[in-house]
Amino acid sequence: MGNTFLENTFAQDILKGLSSYPKYLPSKYFYDAKGDALFQKIMQLPEYYLTKAEFEIFERQKENIVNAFSSRTGKFHLIELGAGDGYKTKVLLEHLLGKQSNFEYVPVDISGNVLNLLQNDLKTSMPNLEVSPIVGDYFYALEKISEQDHDRKVVLFLGSNIGNFNQKNANGFIKHLSQELNEGDLLLTGVDLKKNPKVILSAYNDASGVTKAFNFNLLDRINKELGANFILDNYMHHPTYDPQSGECRSYLLSLKKQEVHFADLETTIEFEAYESIHTEISKKYALRELQDMAKGAGFTVIENFIDSKGYFVDTLWEKL
Ligand code: AVI
Repeated sequence: MGNTFLENTFAQDILKGLSSYPKYLPSKYFYDAKGDALFQKIMQLPEYYLTKAEFEIFERQKENIVNAFSSRTGKFHLIELGAGDGYKTKVLLEHLLGKQSNFEYVPVDISGNVLNLLQNDLKTSMPNLEVSPIVGDYFYALEKISEQDHDRKVVLFLGSNIGNFNQKNANGFIKHLSQELNEGDLLLTGVDLKKNPKVILSAYNDASGVTKAFNFNLLDRINKELGANFILDNYMHHPTYDPQSGECRSYLLSLKKQEVHFADLETTIEFEAYESIHTEISKKYALRELQDMAKGAGFTVIENFIDSKGYFVDTLWEKL
């Protein structure tokens, strides 16, 4: 096509999603600098129970969690996939240090900037902690660690990040992870549980409109980076929840028939009135679904650490 914008993956993915029927946009593109800041705000919202529930699990059950990590012999790598700011993980790290466990912390993130901030923070708050960050893809990181030595691995995948995959992709991800682990290695995954749909829907449609802004930021980002002319007032944020599949799905709806022009891509996308763009899946699980998922990928469930409201689980699996 001779348009350099189309050589860029962001442009290709956006155009592919908006040219499909039904339309979609990949949720990974929420996270530009503004999206990161909005997600930080979401985690502090009264309606967004997920972060608070996982923090409570770590605070109240750290002794049992840390004992499960350390009960096997030898040094281990504590590998956190998608480490972010480490807010919740610090509770476990402090407790492990207090018990003089023999481990190194390996935060993995695609953003070097996030990892620098975390490393500097940990240098001051926990100077005795051995930290070896890896910038890059999760599977690249696991392979790199296996090449270095054969120490045990304890992998953390927290914060309901698994929920942003549909069931098929979640199974595929867990199977791939399993292939990178050895017998006896552990995986602790933070998963949002099925619950009253009202509780779920208000977490994704908060009264102060931060989640709406988080979704709208994607249109704003497309306007800025691809020269599009989305008029944000012409769309509405519409989350839904299906109690059977456990999928909380977020949509942006076009409030009227309209066209959006992409100046940099020399393309126009048409919308019918109330046509949807699917932006995100935040899937909720039942414990028995997690049990099946573990089994299907060659793990056994060792223990489920659940918060006092029964909203969230950190499920600990061992590779068989
Ligand atoms: C990052 N992820 C686990 C969040 C979630 O709950 O699915 C992203 C989010 N989307 C809307 N609010 C929060």
